[in-house]
Amino acid sequence: MKRILIALLAVLMMAPAWADEGMWLPVLIGQRIKDMRAKGFKLKAEDVYSVNKACLKDAVVLFGSGCTGELVSGEGLLFTNHHCGYSQIQRHSSVEHDYLKDGFWAMSRDQELPNRGLTVSFLEYMQDVTDAVLKGYSEGMTERQRDSVIKVNSQGLVAEAVKEGKGLRANVEALFYGNQYFLFVFRTFRDVRLVGAPPSSIGKFGGDTDNWMWPRHTGDFSIFRIYADKDNNPADYSEDNVPYQPKKFFKISRKGVKEGDFTFVYGCPGSTKEYVTSDEVEYTGNVSDPKKIALRTKRLDIMKKYMAQSQAVRIQYSSKAANVSNAWKKWQGEEKGIRRMKTVDKKKEYQERFKQWAKGTRYDGLVERLEALYAKRNPYFLAYEYYNETVRSIELLQIASGMLNVLKNKKAKDAAVEAFFKDYYQPIDEEIFVAMMKAFDDEMPDEFKPDYFKQMLKQYGSVEAWRKDLFSKSMFTDKEKVLALTKEDSEQIKKDPAYVLYEAFYQWYFKELRPVINDVNSQIRLAYRDYMKGQMEFEPQKQFYPDANLTLRIAYGNVKGYSPADGIYYSPVSTLKGIIEKDNPDIFDYNIPQTLRDIYAEGGHDAQPVCFLATNHTTGGNSGSPVINADGNLVGINFDRVWEGTMSDIVYDPSVCRNISLDIRYLLFNIEHIGHAAYLFDEMVFAD
Ligand code: ARG
Ligand code: GLU
Repeated sequence: MKRILIALLAVLMMAPAWADEGMWLPVLIGQRIKDMRAKGFKLKAEDVYSVNKACLKDAVVLFGSGCTGELVSGEGLLFTNHHCGYSQIQRHSSVEHDYLKDGFWAMSRDQELPNRGLTVSFLEYMQDVTDAVLKGYSEGMTERQRDSVIKVNSQGLVAEAVKEGKGLRANVEALFYGNQYFLFVFRTFRDVRLVGAPPSSIGKFGGDTDNWMWPRHTGDFSIFRIYADKDNNPADYSEDNVPYQPKKFFKISRKGVKEGDFTFVYGCPGSTKEYVTSDEVEYTGNVSDPKKIALRTKRLDIMKKYMAQSQAVRIQYSSKAANVSNAWKKWQGEEKGIRRMKTVDKKKEYQERFKQWAKGTRYDGLVERLEALYAKRNPYFLAYEYYNETVRSIELLQIASGMLNVLKNKKAKDAAVEAFFKDYYQPIDEEIFVAMMKAFDDEMPDEFKPDYFKQMLKQYGSVEAWRKDLFSKSMFTDKEKVLALTKEDSEQIKKDPAYVLYEAFYQWYFKELRPVINDVNSQIRLAYRDYMKGQMEFEPQKQFYPDANLTLRIAYGNVKGYSPADGIYYSPVSTLKGIIEKDNPDIFDYNIPQTLRDIYAEGGHDAQPVCFLATNHTTGGNSGSPVINADGNLVGINFDRVWEGTMSDIVYDPSVCRNISLDIRYLLFNIEHIGHAAYLFDEMVFAD
């Protein structure tokens, strides 16, 4: 017994369970600041989050709909990632001005490029509104009644919070599966202009080959500026707008980082599920990830085959392939990580202890209930995931199904059609059609195949024959025909075989899958509300952080290397020397601009830092987040994680979970040597 106790104690002491894990709510910084300071942070709680005085939170924005950005000057200058500004850079690019390829640098304010639809949002404040949201709710109400109480109360809170107007918007978010509710109030700016971006051969250096990997050498940044009206309030784009004067902006540190240094990422992580049961993890790691990976491998292989044969096709499909491959690669790391961590077994073992503890309490039977709900949901959910990854990945069906929506507006329609065909290569689409439909046929159980699908296979005898007929009869392979469509043609569109196919699958999803999935999911959410509360009571000493939901969070840790496999150790800093080592004009992902080669050849730049690793707990949405040092100054921009650690959305492993950041000094290097835009330094403040 004593031996067991000692062993247990040793384990408890050895495993700093909460070291570096966690995405904490800024408003609760008071609970973290002691630990942060113990780890090296020098600022005070109110320097990080305060409603009454300007603080670091006022220099962080939600950029677009899924990235983070940070203010770096008193005149609205903002940094984010290249991959976050990618679609804006692309939209301004043409054959004459290929800003993606060559980079873009405004040499004066009037050259900055406006971006319709792009917004950035500052968090004004966040507030626990649990009591107000649940006012009028009583135990025993149905879930439906509870939802409507919440809805009405939330609407009231939101209306009150935004009544000043001036770009305010607000929403009430459930945290901990609805055990807590928070009001988030933002100010959203709508005139955000592109200031600078490096050529893709720097901003995307390493491409998909290096994505999610270390050693990394990507100059993943772009620069924007926020504009406001003359009173410093949000406004639509206007020539009369002036640079926004933020309450706070980051000073830039040129001191750099070294192993062990404190780092703090302030940003908007999108989604995690740290408190789920073994069933959810098992589904993700053993079913969903491997199946989706296999389907995407097929698609990527087809794209790559044709991309290797033709430069034109490579250009057409590089962005599409990058999108497909991003999650594909992440899932591979996640699946392996879950297995390596034995997360399913560990969760099962935890659940057993929870069950014992829960006997006779209101939490009794919860784990079993979730198990039953997952058993019911999973086959339907898998069918839905197959539908997404197969039918919905076929480009012909995408254009056919989207046509009715744009038909009324000829200009918008023609632009969409031009954009589609500019990047459409039919042989790829046909081959993907065959591969995906075959996979659907082979891998879906019969009861999860739409009748239409079975009928078609019977009628044609093979997917091949079906493909031939579909692609020769559909008008959507013919750009001229699609351009000629007018608003009178909706009936004709509805008869097109591509449209019919898409619609048949959609109706099947809508009628057969969606109702079951929605119903079970709402029961699952409800069960998790209790299970979450139960876990908090079961482990009263543990510090829980709410799952990510694209609201502002704090993650802190330190600069640190890791060992990805036996016999290998990765040191945490990469340099320009490594870019030159990878440089190869014959490999697209590693072909750097000649200017960079020339600068390097001048000598003296070997040690120019490029990227670094740290232990901050981040996820998708944290791209573009400021990486802050112990003094509160900007040392980097977060842009990725290492793939051995991507299971951190479910389970965090301090030994391999690392975020990857751009060293701010490489950004400065690019402004100076690649963009020749050193005038931008004048408005920045350098701390050291
Ligand atoms: N892995 C990073 C993220 O999840 C970067 C993605 C963009 N880069 C790429 N090569 N696809 O967003
Ligand atoms: N690249 C990701 C993003 O766009 C961050 C990588 C991750 O941590 O998932 O947010």
